[in-house]
Amino acid sequence: MKAIFIREHGEPSVIEYGDMPEPEAAPGEVVVRVRAAALNRLDLYTRAGLRGTKIRPEAMPRILGGDCAGDVAQVGADVTGLSEGRRVVVNPLYGANPPQVLGVNRHGSNAEFVAVPAENVVPIPDSLSYEQAAALPTVYLPTWAIIVREGRLQGGETAMVLSSSSGVGTAAIQLVKRVVGATCIAVTSTGEKVRRSKELGADYAINYKTEDVAQRAKELTGGKGVDLVVDSAGALLFEAAYASLARGGRYGVCGVTAGYQAPIHLGQLFSKELRLFGAFMGSSGELRQIVEAAGMGKIGTAVHAVVPLSETAAAHEEMERAEHFGKFIVSVP
Ligand SMILES: NC(=O)c1ccc[n+]([C@@H]2O[C@H](COP(=O)([O-])OP(=O)(O)OC[C@H]3O[C@@H](n4cnc5c(N)ncnc54)[C@H](OP(=O)(O)O)[C@@H]3O)[C@@H](O)[C@H]2O)c1
Repeated sequence: MKAIFIREHGEPSVIEYGDMPEPEAAPGEVVVRVRAAALNRLDLYTRAGLRGTKIRPEAMPRILGGDCAGDVAQVGADVTGLSEGRRVVVNPLYGANPPQVLGVNRHGSNAEFVAVPAENVVPIPDSLSYEQAAALPTVYLPTWAIIVREGRLQGGETAMVLSSSSGVGTAAIQLVKRVVGATCIAVTSTGEKVRRSKELGADYAINYKTEDVAQRAKELTGGKGVDLVVDSAGALLFEAAYASLARGGRYGVCGVTAGYQAPIHLGQLFSKELRLFGAFMGSSGELRQIVEAAGMGKIGTAVHAVVPLSETAAAHEEMERAEHFGKFIVSVP
């Protein structure tokens, strides 16, 4: 089968497009015929071997990719409730203690076929295209955890979405506006991304390169501050966003694209009764709820570009430049 794989970590030039053996479904697994995959920043880290993604030389070559949607092509022993031909999306997080990720710890989805644990597969309705479905898991699971499960954002509240042009940010804007119905302040880096964030539904958007984020957030909330922050950027914006929290505010971190370390004002933590927490992906039960919301057209994928499988390396290069808005989809013919 055709696949995108690496034999060593490095720049996008280490990515190869070629033939790899087709997977077989082990007991408890299914093989999915991939129709579309979605790129995430994790794919760039895995290709480069950064941030805990180092793959041992003896485990190479490794097929890249986590998120995908397609059709069940083979059902392994002991699997019930799934049959060949079923349209599905795959939750790339599997196992526990520690959890593992498709494309990092085993062969991934940037290929014609991928084998996955059956419990990681969620059926999708006909109303959802493979391209739309493929990009849901990795960006919507942590944002669902921050906004819905842990952050318990309410309709009358205000959420701040940092780096709103990212895949995670574009999902967060949609959850805040179209699932919760709260006010959304997007925070991003260029005038064009400000415009696109508002077009996607954000009520306000702050350019963090040219504006004072905490000051603007106070102005936009009539001095109260924001009730929830969705942070996938990390150190770069932490202090300003944390200072923007209202009393009783919640701060969810699901990424550190722009740095791991940031100072925390502990006085504000207790005196304003703030809550700081992390989110890492989510369960297949939550993915079912996300798929349901997407199937009803409430939320979707902000598509930046659709590229054929053979052009995945070029998409990695463009994603490295961080000028995109939303998701890169890889279509698998
Ligand atoms: N915890 C989880 O379960 C989980 C799941 C998905 C992703 N993540 C993490 O969340 C982050 C976002 O993932 P993604 O796939 O949405 O990424 P992405 O689409 O590639 O996001 C890139 C965007 O991040 C912002 N950014 C800020 N500082 C940056 C820097 N130094 N270098 C590059 N980009 C920078 C820019 O947006 P602006 O111009 O708008 O600032 C940029 O366009 C990653 O760190 C990822 O590992 C975690």
